[in-house]
This record gives sequence, C-alpha cells and structure tokens, in this order.
Amino acid sequence: MAMIPLVRTETKIVTRKRLIMALVALLPLAAMADGDAKNGRVLTDTCLGCHAIENYRSLYPMYKVPKLGGQNEAYIVAALKAYRDGARPHKTMQAQAATLSDQEIADVAAYFASRFDD
Ligand code: HEC
Repeated sequence: MAMIPLVRTETKIVTRKRLIMALVALLPLAAMADGDAKNGRVLTDTCLGCHAIENYRSLYPMYKVPKLGGQNEAYIVAALKAYRDGARPHKTMQAQAATLSDQEIADVAAYFASRFDD
C-alpha cells in the first residue's frame, strides 16, 4: 500500500520537470523571433567601431552613424538586407552587409535590439 503514493509522487515530479523544460524552451522564441543575440554579439565586433561610440559617431574619421541599440529588430533586418541587396545605397554599409547570411542578419538584429545603451 505504501508503494502507490510513492510512484504517484515520482510521476508528478517528472511531469512537472517536462512542463518546465517545455516552457524554458519556448522562452527565447517569444523574446526574439529567430535571431541569436549571443552570436550577434560575436558578429558585431566590427560594427561596434562605428555604431557603439558615444553620441553616435564613428571613431575615425568622425561622422554621424544611426543609433542601433534598442532599435526594432525587424527594422534592422530589413535595413541590412536592403544594403546587402544594393536596394539601399551606402557603400560602407553595403560592404558591411555583403557577407552576412540571413541567419547572421537575424542574430545581429537580435543583439542590437536587446541593447539599450547605444
Ligand atoms: C565604418 C563605419 C560603419 C561600420 C563599421 C558599420 N556601420 Fe552600419 N552604418 C554606418 C553609417 C554611416 C550608416 C548610415 C548609412 C545610411 O545613411 O544609410 C549605417 C547604417 C546602418 C544601419 C541602418 C540604420 C538605420 O537607422 O536605418 C544598420 C542596421 C547598420 N548600419 C548595421 C551595421 C552592422 C550590423 C554593422 C556590422 C556588420 C555595421 N553597421 C557596421 C556606419 C558603419
């Protein structure tokens, strides 16, 4: 008789674990479409030389660059694809976007969208 409640308890724990794992797996999806912000950080080393400087200026030569931190993710994806495809003119940014795959663009966009300091 004592065995039955024990088995039930174990089943409950396993079910709860599965539920928690399923919820955790869903979290990143809800937060950021399909871009991987961590990989985006790795990919943006060169970008940050222009886009992460105080007052939105490139380091050298000095000129204005748009703010990307906290920018809408879908907007960044659209902008980078437009540069890559040549639909949006700007030689520097076209060169920057030229080698990025769709997945890398999604990752970069997820990263910049998640930053709020620049
Ligand atoms: C040499 C400086 C420089 C580097 C490096 C650079 N950018 Fe830019 N970026 C600019 C400038 C200048 C603009 C504005 C271009 C324009 O007027 O369209 C811009 C525009 C953009 C825009 C459009 C923003 C908007 O508000 O429309 C995005 C997105 C962007 N850059 C992403 C990146 C990413 C991602 C990288 C790295 C892979 C990168 N940039 C590297 C200078 C740079």
